[in-house]
Amino acid sequence: MKDGGTGKTILRALAGEVLPTPPIWMMRQAGRYLPEYKATRAQAGDFLSLCYNPALAAEVTLQPIRRYGFDAAILFADILLVPQALGADLWFVTGEGPRLSTITDQAGVDALKPLDDIHETLNPIYETVRILRRELPEETTLIGFAGAPWTVATYMIAGRGTPDQGPAHALMQGNVAAFEALLARITAATIEYLSAQIEAGAEVVKIFDSWAGSLKGPAFQKYAVAPCAEITAALKARHPHIPVIGFPREAGDGYIGFHKATGVDCVALDNSVSPEWAAANVQTAGCVQGNLASSHMVTGGQALVDETRAIVQAFSKGPHIFNLGHGITPDADPDNVALMIETVRSTKS
Ligand code: CP3
Repeated sequence: MKDGGTGKTILRALAGEVLPTPPIWMMRQAGRYLPEYKATRAQAGDFLSLCYNPALAAEVTLQPIRRYGFDAAILFADILLVPQALGADLWFVTGEGPRLSTITDQAGVDALKPLDDIHETLNPIYETVRILRRELPEETTLIGFAGAPWTVATYMIAGRGTPDQGPAHALMQGNVAAFEALLARITAATIEYLSAQIEAGAEVVKIFDSWAGSLKGPAFQKYAVAPCAEITAALKARHPHIPVIGFPREAGDGYIGFHKATGVDCVALDNSVSPEWAAANVQTAGCVQGNLASSHMVTGGQALVDETRAIVQAFSKGPHIFNLGHGITPDADPDNVALMIETVRSTKS
């Protein structure tokens, strides 16, 4: 049995062990549904000030661990800090989301900062990681993360979130050389950023490709699978024992073979795929994470209990980490999170 040389349940599941109860954490577990998060965020000023304040970022990372005893903590930061470290302007508009300066051609790519300069901006994040490794309970795994190159590029090209990633698809079609040069710059920066998180103490890293679902066929292979494979191979060469979680959100059939094509240790699943389908088609290749709809954290009740049990049972024959299919939303009820955890831990597989 491979157990990752440790008793931490998340690391055991990532090493392929089938546990009687799946370990649990939750995307966006530090967030606006928690009153203690809102209080610390107010103290920090705004969202980016919170990300770059190691003491307060560590505090909000720890809040859901104290409240619920999740098996993993995820570093509090954002995928858009990498564009900022590369020289993009970044700000958040309350109630709307992120805004960035835009990249529309090769000159925009060429104007980005050199790789060696990114740590100047990102050093506070590594300090947050170091604080967390000192302060987390012994049994809690620390997960670092970054955005996947395609998802990060969609924000850098459009200058904001978009429903269909139209501007990024337009650059891919209109100026593929500039598009691919941008992806290559983000890929290189992401390797350095994740390596530095690992060197500071991250025990697992996750690559968030939130917009992978808008890439189809060969584009999915070239711009979602290949960059994730490149990042994973580079990290494994430097840090062979650090597991990698890939999240090609809404990949559908693209989830099939994703472990093997990228080398990730675990594939995170959104809730558009059924757990039965994913157990038969994805979990057969390795650990999976997911995939309760985050809407249950708003609505609760018997439906939450039934769906949670169905997911635990469907994935009980292979390695599984329980999670939501996407981040918890600000309108979620903190009591529903407690109910989800209690249900996972009391379900007989
Ligand atoms: O999961 C965690 O708790 C760790 C921290 C984390 C955040 N963002 C904090 C955050 C992580 C892993 C992310 C990832 C992230 N950020 C993604 C990929 C995952 C996904 O959700 O698809 C993306 C696309 C972003 C970019 C981003 N950051 C957007 C679009 C927004 C605005 C949307 C919103 O909810 O307002 C953010 C802001 C953000 N990132 C918040 C948090 C807690 C809310 C900010 C606040 O406190 O006002």
